[in-house]
Amino acid sequence: MLSGYHVSRRRFVSTAAAAPFVIGGAPGVLAQSASPAASPAASPVSGAVSITSEPWGKLDDLPVERFHLKNAKGMEVAILTYGGIVQSLMAPDRNGTFANVVLGFAKLEDYVAKSPYFGAIIGRYANRIAKGTFTLDGNTYHLAINNDPNSLHGGNRGFDKYVWDAKPSQTADSASLMLSRTSPDDEEHFPGTLQVTVTYTLKNDNSLAIHYTATTDKDTIINLTNHSYFNLAGEGSGTVYAQQMQLMASHFTPTDATAIPTGQIAPVAGTPFDFTQPHAIGERIRDGSSEQLLFGHGYDHNWVLDRPGPDDKSLIVAAKTADPTSGRVLTTQTTEPGVQLYTGNFLDGSFAGTSNKIYRQGDAFTLETQHFPDSPNEPKFPSTTLKPGETFDSTTIYTFSTQ
Ligand code: BGC
Repeated sequence: MLSGYHVSRRRFVSTAAAAPFVIGGAPGVLAQSASPAASPAASPVSGAVSITSEPWGKLDDLPVERFHLKNAKGMEVAILTYGGIVQSLMAPDRNGTFANVVLGFAKLEDYVAKSPYFGAIIGRYANRIAKGTFTLDGNTYHLAINNDPNSLHGGNRGFDKYVWDAKPSQTADSASLMLSRTSPDDEEHFPGTLQVTVTYTLKNDNSLAIHYTATTDKDTIINLTNHSYFNLAGEGSGTVYAQQMQLMASHFTPTDATAIPTGQIAPVAGTPFDFTQPHAIGERIRDGSSEQLLFGHGYDHNWVLDRPGPDDKSLIVAAKTADPTSGRVLTTQTTEPGVQLYTGNFLDGSFAGTSNKIYRQGDAFTLETQHFPDSPNEPKFPSTTLKPGETFDSTTIYTFSTQ
C-alpha cells in the first residue's frame, strides 16, 4: 500500500492532486499505471502556478510518480521521478494553441524497455568515453562498453534508469521540482560517492530551467545533461528538417567514425556545421561531401560555444530554434562549454511514441548542453574532474516564445 507515502507527498503539493491511478502488478516487477498520455492538442487552462503529482507505475517495487508543473500562462511540464524524465512539455504556438513538443512515451514500461534516453537526466558522464577507459590520478577505470566500442551516457545503468527522490516547491512565479540521488562509489565503475541534485523550475516567462549540483568524496569525473528530444511542431508531427536552427558556436569537435572527438577544435565556416546564422536543420543534412555527416548519420556532434574566454562559465545563449509553421521558438541558454545537436538519426521507425505516432529519423533534435565528449582523455578540453570540497554547478534554461 502506498497510502502513507501519498500522505507525506501531498504535504508538498500545493493544489489538489489529480485523482491517483490504480497501481497493479507483482512486487519486484515493473507495474504500469493506467495513465493516459498528455493529449498533444490539449490547451491547458491558464491560472495560478501549481505543482501536482500522480502515481505512474512502479520500478523494482519503487513507486514512480509523474509531477505536473504548471505556470500561470498554461504551460505545463510533466516530469517523472524515473530518470528525471521530461515526459511531456506543452508549449503554445503563435495562436495560443498548446502542443507537446517533446518525444516520449505514454507508459513507464515503454521508457524502461526501449527509450533512447527520451527526456532523461544523463550521468555520470553524458556522451561518450573512448573505449570506456579513462585515467585519473594514475588509476585507470573501465566503464561498460554499451555503444561499441565506447561507453555512452553513463554506461549500462546511468542516471536515466533510476528512481530519484523528489521535492516539489513553488512561488507565485514558479513551480520547482528538486530531484536528488546518491550515486554510490564504483557505480558503473566511476570512482567516488556522488550526491546529485537536479532541479527543474518552470517560470511564468515560459522558461524551464535545469540546475544541476553534485559533490563527491573522491576525485571523479562528471558531465550531466538532459536528453529531451524536441519537435517544435509537436511530437509525432514528422521531421524537424524545416525548423530553423542557430548555434552560437563558430567551432565544433569533429569525430572519428565511432563518434569520439579527434581532439581538434575545428572552425564550422564553410561546412554544413555552420549554424552561426539560422539554417533549416535539413538544408545540408544530406551533403555527402561531409565525412562528418556520414560519420554521424546526420548531426550528432558537439559544438564549442563562443565564450569571451576559456574560463568563462556565465549563462549565455547557446541556440535559438524556430518552427516557421507554428511560430514556436526555443531559446537555449547554458553555463556549459558545449552543446550536442543530435537529429534523431537512430530513430528507425520501430516504435511509436506518446500519441501513438511512429518515430522516424529526423523527427526531433536534441540540444544536450555539456562538457565535450571524451574530455577525460583529451587534456586540451575543459576539465570534467570533480574533487572533494568542490561543487559541480551547472544551469541550462529552455525558454519558449513565439514569432
Ligand atoms: C548521442 C547519439 C545517441 C543518442 C541516443 C546522443 O547524445 O550522441 O549518438 O544515439 O544520444 O542514444
